[in-house]
Amino acid sequence: MTLREKYKDMHYMVDHVLIDEETLKKRVKELGEELSRDYADKDDVIMVCILKGAVVFYADLCRATNIFMKMDFMAISSYGDAQKTSGIVRIAKDMDSSITGKHVIIVEDIMDSGLTLSHLIRLLWERQPASIKTCCLLDKPSRRECEITPDYCGFTIPNEFVVGYGLDYNQEMRNLPYIGVLKPEVYAE
Ligand code: IMP
Ligand code: MG
Repeated sequence: MTLREKYKDMHYMVDHVLIDEETLKKRVKELGEELSRDYADKDDVIMVCILKGAVVFYADLCRATNIFMKMDFMAISSYGDAQKTSGIVRIAKDMDSSITGKHVIIVEDIMDSGLTLSHLIRLLWERQPASIKTCCLLDKPSRRECEITPDYCGFTIPNEFVVGYGLDYNQEMRNLPYIGVLKPEVYAE
């Protein structure tokens, strides 16, 4: 049985809304203003979207900034199951641009164990960029397994599995316009 057959409507898979559309919009605007201030005097800024989870956040965040920047995209897969990362990262799609001497802003959906981003940052420093900063929409600090905090963070959230605004459950629900907590019965199956 597919999720569509079972639940009929995506919204029925959501236990409760954690962050609604209006709150997301307001916070993304603030993050955009913060980035605009911090990068106002910088050339060679590259904002890198980590596919696929960050794609919705990225599209909104870029348009909330007023900086001279280039867009680029990376897909990384970390081995592990749907809800747990191993920290071993493979670059499934690399970015097109060289980042040597450039200011890199990594845009990610969520920092959970932190293993994916800390590994990716290590890899990217080998390319000798001028700087690397991370901008995560969500942060679940209670789950951290290494020493890393996002440089820019939208919301700190409790340890619950969330979906929507780019975040998926088994690759679906990314198109939900808000951040919702998935009903436990959905992933208990
Ligand atoms: P980390 O290496 O444990 O920090 O893993 C981060 C990745 O795990 C994110 O990019 C998401 O793809 C995924 N992830 C972690 N928590 C959630 C969640 O609550 N909902 C959806 N995906 C999540
Ligand atoms: Mg992801």
